[in-house]
Amino acid sequence: MDDIDISLYNTVTEGKATILFPKTNEVFYNPIQEFNRDMSIAAIRTWSDMFLQEKRDRLEKKLASTKSEKERQRLTEILDTNTGLNFNVLEALAATGLRSIRYAKEIPNLRQVVANDLLDDAVESIRRNIIYNGLDEGLVRPNKGDAMRVVYDTVGTHQKYDVVDLDPYGSAAPFIDGAVQAVSDGGLLCVTCTDLAILTGSMHPETCFGKYNGMPLKKTFPHEMALRLVLQMLQTSAGRYRRYIVPMVTCSIDFYLRVFVRVYTSPNGVKEAASKIGLIYECTGCHSFATQPLGQVEFKENGVKRHSPGFGPPVNTACDHCGNPHHVGGPAWIAPLHDKNFVGKMLQHVMDNEQNYGTHKRMKGMLSVIQEEVEDPCYWTIQRICGTLHCNGIPMLDLFSAILNAGYRVSSSHCGPQTIKTNAPPIVVWDILREFVKKHPVVMANIDEDSPARMILAKEPTTAVDFTRHPNAKPESRNTVRYQQNPAPNWGPKARAGKKRKADGSTIED
Ligand SMILES: C[S@@+](CC[C@H](N)C(=O)[O-])C[C@H]1O[C@@H](n2cnc3c(N)ncnc32)[C@H](O)[C@@H]1O
Ligand SMILES: [Zn+2]
Repeated sequence: MDDIDISLYNTVTEGKATILFPKTNEVFYNPIQEFNRDMSIAAIRTWSDMFLQEKRDRLEKKLASTKSEKERQRLTEILDTNTGLNFNVLEALAATGLRSIRYAKEIPNLRQVVANDLLDDAVESIRRNIIYNGLDEGLVRPNKGDAMRVVYDTVGTHQKYDVVDLDPYGSAAPFIDGAVQAVSDGGLLCVTCTDLAILTGSMHPETCFGKYNGMPLKKTFPHEMALRLVLQMLQTSAGRYRRYIVPMVTCSIDFYLRVFVRVYTSPNGVKEAASKIGLIYECTGCHSFATQPLGQVEFKENGVKRHSPGFGPPVNTACDHCGNPHHVGGPAWIAPLHDKNFVGKMLQHVMDNEQNYGTHKRMKGMLSVIQEEVEDPCYWTIQRICGTLHCNGIPMLDLFSAILNAGYRVSSSHCGPQTIKTNAPPIVVWDILREFVKKHPVVMANIDEDSPARMILAKEPTTAVDFTRHPNAKPESRNTVRYQQNPAPNWGPKARAGKKRKADGSTIED
């Protein structure tokens, strides 16, 4: 510590770590990502409780069936002393080491975190910060290397990482094939993607296909679609190595995605993948949507599973509601985005440990909305539905009540305010809007002859629509910070480190 000239650095304290980063900004640091790091710590802690309990259960089972006295003694000692009941982490793109140091200081039972980065400056910074935080290189091991090489080094060995964390600039896609092989069985893969413009298809959907092997749909549910494209890519990559993923919690946050999935080795698990992946059709006129699973699983009489191609398509060539053609998105993950048991535990952990997390209010808000989310893929938005019909905005409480009164599930999506996730088919949603429009008429003279609104509003509802306030129409999460406004001026993904700054903050011209 005596060797460090503190005057050359700014300090940032986040959680239990204080990081020195050079005033010349040679190493990447983005304060807005505190939420990402807080969520990651809470997710890894929640996962590690499960992972270590599963390890313990396996040892106890082994102990119960072991005859050898020597082996019994060995197992009893492990269980009594917790020896070996720990885990390791690879932070493959670690920059200043802030995240790794927080992991080391804030996550119990962590044996070692390898903090890897490609750049000399970053690795030097990691070393400096390990010392400054009073840690040793046994617990946080700095490593200089290409993340790609580091994950592939595990292939063909038993030296896996229990947690692999990928937090790159932009897309994590290039690292995924190696990362799904580098995680231990039942381990946790944590992935950030900040290339949302690509993943939501806002400009060039073909670029998204090139990177993620799936077509985005940008009109109504771009962020959930983006999450589903990333999960599809994770499963497709894992499947090549007889592995499958189980999403624990999958978040769309500000300008990026952060997903946490467990990875298991099981050829039988891989067989389920085709029924968890599918195409998503979105009408180009009224934006009704439908999913098409690529596979399906049936149970034979003897209880054995039979896998076959899915039946389809789920829509007609022209939309039943407005007569327009559909866009096809995907292949995308169409199974649940979250494990609700996991989310419940993570939320409880945050509520019990608020003091540990600078962003705990937002964590509680996002996890509460996620816990309430209906699992069926994708969402409507009030803006889209009412924009399609050129009608007044239907109050969320009226829409939610009518859906619940018709016997369907409904929730918001954590992806954005004024979103509606439901298992109600589109005809029910349009019937509710038809009744709403009867009470709040639309000026038809302003609407084009071939507009979707005309075709939808020309039909009489077939659903009995009841707007009576339903007791579950107001979600409990309403009392939390559900959606973040822009957190700071000029927020967003930060530029790559390397643009030299003078100590006063001004940029040094090249
Ligand atoms: C977004 S920053 C990481 C931020 C960090 N995870 C945090 O939470 O503070 C990305 C880092 O990845 C490093 N990097 C880029 N390409 C890499 C590669 N192929 N292998 C290893 N590190 C790489 C960069 O040097 C940079 O420090
Ligand atoms: Zn339509």
